[in-house]
Amino acid sequence: MKISPKMKKSLNDQVALEGAASNSIGYQGAANYFYMQSDEERTHMIKVVHYLNDMGAYASIPAIKAPSGSFKSLEGILKTALKNEQSVTKAIHKMVEITQKEKDHSTYAFLEWFVNEQVQEETKFETLLQKFDLIGRDKLAINEIDKILATESTTPDADPTA
Ligand SMILES: [Fe+2]
Ligand SMILES: [Fe+2]
Repeated sequence: MKISPKMKKSLNDQVALEGAASNSIGYQGAANYFYMQSDEERTHMIKVVHYLNDMGAYASIPAIKAPSGSFKSLEGILKTALKNEQSVTKAIHKMVEITQKEKDHSTYAFLEWFVNEQVQEETKFETLLQKFDLIGRDKLAINEIDKILATESTTPDADPTA
């Protein structure tokens, strides 16, 4: 194994976290936007699994927590999504700290993509949430924001490093 047991454990935790991100969003089912988002999270999970395999470490796909089924509003869903992204960012930053401590340059380079991805992800949800302040929270406003989400789901953001 080319990475430390501690690094392996952290990466495996990340597999679970990306899996949970995929799941909690996918179950909303309402908008194509969240399906797209869910697919994206699954690719993140697979990226980590492949990396662990490349490093000769077993990836363990854990049971993923059932998503919470009751969201009051679109704004609530987006707030939850932002919170999830913030905890994913924290976990990734923690892993980067481990790579620095362990001088694990391979994993450091691998994680760079995720560091950048999280900046985009958090910005994306923050920007969407700002729309509620700008456009409003009445039925017409929600309909408008729904349209924005529909447009965004047909134009996935460019991935500069993929
Ligand atoms: Fe992700
Ligand atoms: Fe994400």
